[in-house]
Formats: sequence, structure tokens, C-alpha cells
Amino acid sequence: MTLPLLVGTGLVFFSVPQPAAGQPAATMHAVRIHQFGGPEVLTYEQAPRPVPATGEVLIRIHAAGVNPVDWKIVKGGFGAGKFPMIVGYDVSGVVDTLGEAATRFRTGDEVFAYLPLQSGGGYAEYVCAPEMVVSAKPKTIDHVHAAAVPLAALTAWQALFDTAKLEKGQTVLIHGGAGGVGHFAVQLAKWRGATVITTASAPNHEFLKELGADQVIDYKTQKFEDVVKDVDVVFDTVGGETRERSYGVIKKGGFFVSIVGPPAPDKLKEHGIRGKAFLVQPNGAQLAEIAALIDSGALKPTVSHVFPLDQAGKAHEQSQTGHTRGKIVLEVVPRSEESPTRKP
Ligand SMILES: NC(=O)c1ccc[n+]([C@@H]2O[C@H](COP(=O)([O-])OP(=O)(O)OC[C@H]3O[C@@H](n4cnc5c(N)ncnc54)[C@H](OP(=O)(O)O)[C@@H]3O)[C@@H](O)[C@H]2O)c1
Repeated sequence: MTLPLLVGTGLVFFSVPQPAAGQPAATMHAVRIHQFGGPEVLTYEQAPRPVPATGEVLIRIHAAGVNPVDWKIVKGGFGAGKFPMIVGYDVSGVVDTLGEAATRFRTGDEVFAYLPLQSGGGYAEYVCAPEMVVSAKPKTIDHVHAAAVPLAALTAWQALFDTAKLEKGQTVLIHGGAGGVGHFAVQLAKWRGATVITTASAPNHEFLKELGADQVIDYKTQKFEDVVKDVDVVFDTVGGETRERSYGVIKKGGFFVSIVGPPAPDKLKEHGIRGKAFLVQPNGAQLAEIAALIDSGALKPTVSHVFPLDQAGKAHEQSQTGHTRGKIVLEVVPRSEESPTRKP
């Protein structure tokens, strides 16, 4: 069997270990695509259960997080792939089987992970993950909330700390504070000791103040550049004209970090600032630090929508609105119907 591997903007393929000859292939439920398209191409069906390769663990998935990159890949945004393909890059579950030379976890451990974009496989009952991208799950939250964390929280962490080097006492403007990435960024920046200004529509202002934002600007009624100036860092999760209007609010020597497109070099030079766009990388060690912050109470994932795995298409429709508060999660192992985050 082959799986797609993302290289640059294209896809190549690598082999996945198969059961020994003569053994029946185990199956699982999964959401697969057989062609690129919209939410309607997501198909809930039987698929072969993957077998862990050297250095991998097989995770029995309890919940899978949904991110905008999922539907961008389903639309074919990252180039041609080989079908059938299972998207999904955030999972929380239990270690089922250890691959050869996998030593960091034991069967039965509760874990969560941001899976490499090259392999994905999160919209399923089982997935294999290189153990270096896996971390013990936070103990104080359930699988649905844990599955909401990896990609978005790692993005916020790598943007603010690894790329922009945000420090205590600095001021950061975070565009899109109410979204999956933004709501983690607001909390991580506050934890670091920064002053946080963020943009959101009015219904999300109270939510963001509760997360610790010092100032929330309604981007629908006010131009942020009229009320913000001389910040140390802008973190852009929105792009487009929001990016164009952001350069001028950063103090000389400050930093513009983006996850939605590179800054224009001439604009950086004109304003005397630095800037960079980047793609989030899987990182089990950083995920363990994030898990510890969650268990300490300093960081809290917000899940606004939970769908069963077989309704992944509805989850993608919600994500494509571009106005989800916090995160969307697919429930793979059903929780009790009384759960407070469960939506009808
Ligand atoms: N490069 C990378 O590594 C990387 C990693 C993660 C994500 N991304 C990309 O980053 C983007 C954001 O990801 P996400 O997961 O945070 O998406 P998301 O959860 O869908 O973000 C939705 C949020 O965006 C807010 N929003 C929409 N338009 C806005 C505007 N003009 N100004 C301020 N806020 C606005 C909405 O708030 P309101 O409802 O209040 O409007 C909503 O809360 C996506 O394009 C995603 O693909 C890139």
C-alpha cells in the first residue's frame, strides 16, 4: 500500500507495512476521499487498518481535531495525491500497538499528536504516528478537548516563541484571536507575560477577555491601525488586506509573523521591521510542554462544535465558514450524551 508524502507543494508516495502473508488484513472505519472536491467527497467507509513501522506507534483514536488545512487538502490545494486518502492531522487516543524500536510509550498510554502532513490519517479509528511527534495527553481534559490542541497550539507556540521570540513585557497584536490558532495564541502570549491586543467580531469579545486579552478590537467596525501603534509583534492568522495594514503598526525592529502568506520584503524594509511566514512542524517535545501548561490551568482549549466521525463533511462546512470560535472536533469513540460540549 502507498501513502502520499508532501514535498514542497507536491505529493510523492511511500510504502506502508502490510500484515504478514496469509493473515487477513484488519479493517477499521475511516473517512476517505477518492477524488478532490468539497465536503461531499468525504466518504465514511471500511479501510485497511494501518500497521506500525519501525519507530511508530499505532494509536486507537478517540477523537480527531479538524483544521482548515484538512479541507484545503481535500480541495487539492497541496497538489495531486494518490487515492483513497485519509485526511486529518490532530488525534487523541490510546496506544494500541508498538512498532519495532518504539520505546517512548507503552500500550494503553493516553496520547495526543499532530501527525505529519505527509501521512495524515486522523479521520479514522486507528492511525500510525512516528513516536517523536506523540506526547502523553493532558490528564485534566478529555480526548475531544485534547484532539483540539496539537496543530493549532503548536502553531501559536512556534509563531510566538520560536519565530517572533516574544518576550515578557512586550506587546503583541494577534489577528483572528477567536479562531483555532488565535485562541491559543492569546493565552500563550499572556502566559509569557506580554500585553495582548487582538481582533475579532463583537460576539467574541467577552470570550477573548476571559482568555486574558487586554484589548479586543472589532475588525468589522474599527480599523485596528487607527488604535494600535508601536507593537513589538504582529501575529497574522488572517492575511490579505489585514497583512497590508499591519506593517505600519509595528515598531522599528519589531516582528511580523504570519501563517497565511509571506510578508512583502520591500514593506519590511520600508518600515524597518523583520518578518517571516512558516508552516507548523510536528513536535512531541513541545506538545508535552503544552500538555503541562494545560494541566497547570494556564492554557485551555475551547471546542465549539463536536461531530461524530461519519459527519466529517458537516465539520468541514463549519470550518469553511471562517468564523468558528475555538475548535471543531470529530468524536470517534462516542462520549456520554450528557457531555457539556456535545452539540446535537
Ligand atoms: N502555516 C501554518 O502552519 C498554519 C497553521 C495553522 C493554520 N494555518 C492557517 O491559518 C488560518 C487560521 O487558522 P485557524 O485554525 O485559526 O482558523 P479558524 O479557526 O477557522 O479561524 C476562524 C476565526 O477567524 C476569525 N476571523 C475571520 N476573519 C477575520 C478578520 N478579518 N479579522 C479577525 N478575525 C477574523 C473568526 O472570528 P470572527 O468569527 O469573530 O470573525 C474566527 O474565530 C487558516 O487559513 C489556516 O489554514 C496555517
